[in-house]
Amino acid sequence: MPIIYNEQEKTITLHTQNTSYQMKVGPCDLLLHTYYGPRAQGDMSWCLSFRDRGFSGNPYDAKLLRGISADTLPMEYPCEGSGDFRAPAFSVRRANGAVGCDLRYVSHEIKPGKYALDGLPTVYADGEEAETLEVTLADEAAGVRVLLQYGVFPALDVITRAARIENCGEGSVLLQAAASASLDFVSGDWDVMHFYGRHAGERAVGRAPIEQRELLIGSRRGTSSHQQSPFVILADRETTELHGRCVGMSLLYSGSFSCNASRDQFGTTRAVMGIQSEHFDYPLEPGEVFQAPELALVYSGEGLARLSQRFHRMVSQHVCRGPWKNRRRPVLLNNWEATGMDFTGERILNIAKTAAELGVEMLVLDDGWFGARNDDNAGLGDWTVNTEKLGCTMGELADKIRGMGMKFGLWIEPEMVNEDSDRYREHPDWALCIPGKAPVMGRNQLVLDFSRPEVVDAIFEQIAQVLDECRADYVKMDMNRSITDVYSAVWPDQSQGKILYQYVLGVYRFMEMLLERYPNLLLEGCSGGGGRFDAGMLYYCPQIWCSDNTDAIDRVRIQYGTSFGFPLRTMGAHVSAVPNGDTRRKTPFHTRAVVAMAGTFGYELDLNLISDEEKKQVPAQIEAFKKYWNLLHNGLFYRLTDVMQNRQEAAWMMVEEDGSEALVNIVVLDSTGNNPNRFVRCMGLTPGASYKDEESGMVYDANALMAQGLPMPMVQYPRWPVKVTPNEYDAFQIHLVRI
Ligand code: DGJ
Repeated sequence: MPIIYNEQEKTITLHTQNTSYQMKVGPCDLLLHTYYGPRAQGDMSWCLSFRDRGFSGNPYDAKLLRGISADTLPMEYPCEGSGDFRAPAFSVRRANGAVGCDLRYVSHEIKPGKYALDGLPTVYADGEEAETLEVTLADEAAGVRVLLQYGVFPALDVITRAARIENCGEGSVLLQAAASASLDFVSGDWDVMHFYGRHAGERAVGRAPIEQRELLIGSRRGTSSHQQSPFVILADRETTELHGRCVGMSLLYSGSFSCNASRDQFGTTRAVMGIQSEHFDYPLEPGEVFQAPELALVYSGEGLARLSQRFHRMVSQHVCRGPWKNRRRPVLLNNWEATGMDFTGERILNIAKTAAELGVEMLVLDDGWFGARNDDNAGLGDWTVNTEKLGCTMGELADKIRGMGMKFGLWIEPEMVNEDSDRYREHPDWALCIPGKAPVMGRNQLVLDFSRPEVVDAIFEQIAQVLDECRADYVKMDMNRSITDVYSAVWPDQSQGKILYQYVLGVYRFMEMLLERYPNLLLEGCSGGGGRFDAGMLYYCPQIWCSDNTDAIDRVRIQYGTSFGFPLRTMGAHVSAVPNGDTRRKTPFHTRAVVAMAGTFGYELDLNLISDEEKKQVPAQIEAFKKYWNLLHNGLFYRLTDVMQNRQEAAWMMVEEDGSEALVNIVVLDSTGNNPNRFVRCMGLTPGASYKDEESGMVYDANALMAQGLPMPMVQYPRWPVKVTPNEYDAFQIHLVRI
């Protein structure tokens, strides 16, 4: 029984295999949070401290019991107006303009299976893999009822949360905040780990102590963003990869979000996470509801590696869907970095021919194939094939590529429109734009109003005609600007605060329609690289282009940060040309392949233009990817070095769940003359076992590899008499097999 209600104690406890989570209906029917941690039994309300504290008010019905205060107790879903002055999860403005309500427990229900959310992505379960708890809180006088939704996945060690708000009164109310969840921890010195960055530099790892001030992480860009990821970890100050407690929070939502982390005056740490409340004035008429997106929670008492592994399993098996979920993805070649928009059908076929000969399995035609799209100032919105540029129809091009033995994929950017397009000339009101204000431009394009179903449908129909014609095996769905000028021509003025949320629902509906019409389609997400890399998108796209930056050394860091919340199999990663377009750095061809294999693996260059020596490497790289694919995508993942701190080498490894084999990957980041000896400490091997390095035949003791470390391989360079320490940017893959 994963969910247990104890009527006497008035506790509701959620158990997964290794963790427990508890809430309690406290005095005055306040819903209190008593525990989230390693699996534990009994009533945890001994953690509650009912002390009369100055300036911490009391519910009216507490009468003289001044120790009861929403300002000092750990609250399950804190609301503004209850006397809790910490960050609220919920805030509502009543019809008379007053802000505030006081949510109290009303009832709860335990249901078999996992709840689903209309139009929103969720962690899903088959039958008995999960159980649902629904707790109703209400403030009848304010006219609001809140349904707290919990999904418990015992085998995954995952608990999901969401909230559904209903106007149960007679007047309209305005939601000002409706977070997915709030977590209060009564003890501990916590850090918040967040994943920040910029275009072409996503998901660097930040770690900051949570103190008595609010620390805000989030995005106001209408998308989950390059700048902050909607994946956050609370970690005990001492927590490392293999030790200590940590709690991960992954929001399944691809729009603006926020996470507010703070410590209160008495030492309780609170993290509130959900949809961003700025630009969110969400009116609800009587009977209307608002559904907050889902937040997935994982607790680990054994450090960050275990936390990531639990999220990896959740995302791989219970977020990603469709036929590609567990299949090896085709090794693809995308023409973007090879040609930009400056291509002809002949050039594409020329690239495809060599790629096919070297073993590439799919050709993806990127931006520039439609309308008047010869640079990025025109054409978006006109999804008609530029047959003049291609010299044939899209169907003919795809057939020729299939004739070479490859699959065929296409790039689209459905949410956007250029002013210089027939679409815009015909429907200028389809673009988000504030009347009387010149819009902010981004890549010289405007954002289509995807909160309007008719806009989504029209774009879908036009794109579908092309996909029907070429029978695309794969689509890369891009999105290349942040959202501004949030005003929709069709929504009433008082409902404009709904648009960003409704926009995200429109994007989800677009992708759902794609998957329904093309059930075998492999959909890759993209937003200028990894600007919308979140668990919500992964419900539709089992892979997302991780970054526009394909420099192997920068990618090591970007993929390192991404790995905390997302498995390697979701990270779009390709071998590209050198010097790299972003960094001008030159890295060895082999290194670029090792780094791309820590992702979906593919190529992003014209293979006609590489040296003969490199051409010989391509089939070997593809063979290695096929050989290691299962380990790379299904093995337990360990970060062996902290790439944010260690500037010498980056190392990561995957270990088969039963410990029978492992693949250690090392990239040398820096080298100096007369180098000190270097070792990489392995993780996750079977203690006491011996492992053989498949290539060198060397046998190692697992305990020694995990304590002392694997020595950095020496390298034999051409025309050099002895083996020497590796050069900067060299890379190694060491396949260890248990004997
Ligand atoms: C941004 C993407 O991340 C690139 O890979 C490429 O598809 C361009 N957009 C095309 O405009």
